[in-house]
Amino acid sequence: AALGNSNITWHPSLSRHERNQLRGQRGFTIWFTGLSASGKSTVATALEQHLLHLGVAAYRLDGDNVRFGLNKDLGFSEKDRNENIRRIAEVAKLFADSSTVALASFISPYRADRQVARDLHTNASPAGDDGLPFIEVFVDIPLSEAEKRDPKGLYKKARAGEIKDFTGISAPYEAPESPEITIRTDKLSVEECVIKIADYLRERDLIG
Ligand code: PPS
Repeated sequence: AALGNSNITWHPSLSRHERNQLRGQRGFTIWFTGLSASGKSTVATALEQHLLHLGVAAYRLDGDNVRFGLNKDLGFSEKDRNENIRRIAEVAKLFADSSTVALASFISPYRADRQVARDLHTNASPAGDDGLPFIEVFVDIPLSEAEKRDPKGLYKKARAGEIKDFTGISAPYEAPESPEITIRTDKLSVEECVIKIADYLRERDLIG
């Protein structure tokens, strides 16, 4: 109902559809998964910049702002990684629900955890809103390549037995079976990876 004779209207509960319309963009989540040093964060950062330049509100969640804050109580056991991904998926969903593009960039090595993240987004909400789009991007490079890069020296330490449960060495990485997008960061430049993802988003009408 209109308040007085002003143009301010009060919505008891704004639907996601109305929020998207008012903000002029759709919210969704892009979920990057891949080995340590695969290039997930580099590509996610470049994509975030690209989207912001296009005027699309986007926000990146990664280790820097999650494992030092919200999830600072979690380590790298299977159970802790499950909880890490579960919480991140909930946060990404909130961003997406606010008509923002959430870019999640975590190893997320377990297929079942990524499925939990996907279902959380794509299932219709009890409030009757449709599910949110969830785009899984497999940042695919051979382990040997990741190990060669080893920017933080972690593979070397893991091989020496100084880090336990290290993904790809002493803990599993379960590659996605049907990701929406696969990028080979050892074959494409960062810019080419961003273009590939942006083209996909445009084809699906997720960005203008
Ligand atoms: S996970 O598996 O999704 O919960 O991991 P994530 O939150 O993405 O954290 C991965 C980064 O933590 C550092 N690190 C480890 N990675 C894998 N295994 C073990 N044991 C480990 N210990 C520390 C590592 O630097 C990862 O950073 P990225 O950016 O992926 O290289």
